[in-house]
Amino acid sequence: MKKTKVVKVMAPKKKAAPAKAKAKAKPETAKGKGKIIKGVPAGMTLAKAAKWAAPRISKKRFQHVTGVVEVGLKLAKLAKLSPADRLLVGLACWLHDSCKEMKDYELIEKARAAGMKLTEIEKNNGHLLHGPVAALIVRKELKISNKTVLNAIAEHTLGATSMTEVSKLVFLADCLEASRPTDFTAPIWEALAANKNTGLKSKINLDNALLVACDLSLAHLLEARRPIHPKTVDVRNHFLGIVRAAEKLGS
Ligand SMILES: [Fe+2]
Ligand SMILES: [Fe+2]
Repeated sequence: MKKTKVVKVMAPKKKAAPAKAKAKAKPETAKGKGKIIKGVPAGMTLAKAAKWAAPRISKKRFQHVTGVVEVGLKLAKLAKLSPADRLLVGLACWLHDSCKEMKDYELIEKARAAGMKLTEIEKNNGHLLHGPVAALIVRKELKISNKTVLNAIAEHTLGATSMTEVSKLVFLADCLEASRPTDFTAPIWEALAANKNTGLKSKINLDNALLVACDLSLAHLLEARRPIHPKTVDVRNHFLGIVRAAEKLGS
């Protein structure tokens, strides 16, 4: 059985700020406070990404996305990410669901046109492609070619065994956005808190939280009798391996 050190739930106290105010409040540039970021056009800001995403989705979804940005930036601070990486987290959070409201057949068409090989489950559940297709469109329309941002967008639904810290944060922020049910978010916040009082640089344990998020998602899919993408199982087993290895080292 997995050991999850529970210290304290760190869920944000306040609800997400109104979308427009939030977009204006974070005018970080593509320079990431002085450092030029490869693959992010000069002048790209979180406000520009928000403005681009807004007309592509409903008001309700935009509120979700705003909440994801809020949690993502909070987690990036707790994980002690550099200003440049914090900007990448913010960009990926703003852009992650920009294709969420596309029809399944459109997503499948766009993925095929880009040469993606689709699995049987993706052919029958086109919505699973909204992350990878968003990454393709962001690259084309916003001229963002930064792999860290694009992979974080593409991986936000199913995860990956090769996730960067930025990608893990975006995945978790999407799980922890304020409108998600507490019985889903509370165990993830608790798992994140496992680094508290350990002296580690990052105040949060991303791998622990990812394992809990995967377990909860799998339980939900089983209960709802919905298909499970094999990648979800691979990703869950990957993080189980990491968490178990860390527990062995610590015991
Ligand atoms: Fe999504
Ligand atoms: Fe989302």
